[in-house]
Amino acid sequence: MGRRLKFLNRGKNGHYTEKSGLSVSFTNCYDNAVRADAYSRLEFANTYYLAFRDLPALFRRHVTGTSALDFGCGTGRSTRFTRQFGFETIGIDIAPEMIAKARELDPHGDYHLTKGGDFSGLSSHAFDLVLCMFPFDNIAGFAVKLGLFCQLASLLRNSGKLVNVVSSPEIYLHEWASFSTKDFPENRNAKSEDIVRIITTDFADRTPAVDVLCTDDSYRQLYSQAGLAVVAMHKPLANGDEPYRWVSETKIAPWVIYVLERSNGRRRALHECEHRVRVRCARRCRHPCQCGLFWRDQAGGLGSRLFKAYRGEMPQM
Ligand SMILES: C[S@@+](CC[C@H](N)C(=O)[O-])C[C@H]1O[C@@H](n2cnc3c(N)ncnc32)[C@H](O)[C@@H]1O
Repeated sequence: MGRRLKFLNRGKNGHYTEKSGLSVSFTNCYDNAVRADAYSRLEFANTYYLAFRDLPALFRRHVTGTSALDFGCGTGRSTRFTRQFGFETIGIDIAPEMIAKARELDPHGDYHLTKGGDFSGLSSHAFDLVLCMFPFDNIAGFAVKLGLFCQLASLLRNSGKLVNVVSSPEIYLHEWASFSTKDFPENRNAKSEDIVRIITTDFADRTPAVDVLCTDDSYRQLYSQAGLAVVAMHKPLANGDEPYRWVSETKIAPWVIYVLERSNGRRRALHECEHRVRVRCARRCRHPCQCGLFWRDQAGGLGSRLFKAYRGEMPQM
C-alpha cells in the first residue's frame, strides 16, 4: 500500500509497465455496476455540496456561450447540473456502467461512451465549456493526463474555458462529512502519481475509491505543457451555516477548482517545444504524452523556431 508507482506505458485494461518492467494494474474503480448504482444515488449533499456550490458563479464570470462537454460525466450528475444553468451539454465517460446509469436516469440526455483519449466524434474548437468534474482523480500517469489535457484544450473555442474540479491532496488525509481516510495512513507519504485511497460514506458501498494523487504543482506543470493558462483557482470552504454536519470542511478545502483557458499560441508553441528542438518538419509528436499533435519546424532546420499544428492545421498565432 502506498507503493510509489511510476507508470510509463499504458496498455489494455488499465495495465501499466513500471520503470522496473513490472506490470501493475490500475483499473478505473467506477467501471462496475455496484459502484455505478451507488454513484447514481449521490446528489449534491454533504462534502459534494462544496464541489458544486460555487460553479454557477464561476460559469457566469468566466464562460460565454452554452455549448458544453462534460468529460468523465459518470452517471450524469455533473451533466444534469450544467444543463440547469442553460448549457447544452454532451456527457462522455469511459465506463459503460456509468453511461448506462446516466442514460437510465436521464433518457433525453446526450451521453456517449468513449475509449480513453478518443475524441474523434467531437469537433475541435466547438465548446464554450469543457467541464471535468473529478475524472482526473482516477487517471494514472503524467503522460496520459497530459495527452488528455492537450486534446481537451483543442476542443475549446478561442474564448472557451476548461473547468477542472479535482480532489485536493488534503482530502486524502482527513475525515469529512462524505468521506473517510482514517484506514489509509499510508496516504500521508503519497507523492504525485502515487495511489491514494478514500471511502465514500454517503453510500453503502464501502469499497475504497483508488485515486492517483496529483498535487497543485503537478497540475500546473500539466496545464503549462498542454498550453492551458490558469485563469482562476478556487478552494471552496464551508461557512458553517449549511444544513450539513461538517467535519473538516470549514477549515480545509476538500476540492480544488481550476478555471483554464488556452494560452497564447506563440508562447505555448515555443514553451511546449523546448524539449522537441530536433523534431523535423511536420513529424508526429513522439513525446510520451502521445497526444497526436504534429510539430512543424518553420525554417526546416534543426533548432529553429518550432510551431505546432493540430491535425495538419496551423494553430492561431
Ligand atoms: C468520480 S466520477 C465523477 C462523475 C461525474 N463527473 C460527477 O461529478 O458525478 C469520475 C468519472 O470519470 C470517468 N473517467 C475516468 N477516466 C476517464 C477517461 N479517461 N475518459 C473519460 N472518463 C473517465 C470515470 O469512469 C468516472 O465515471
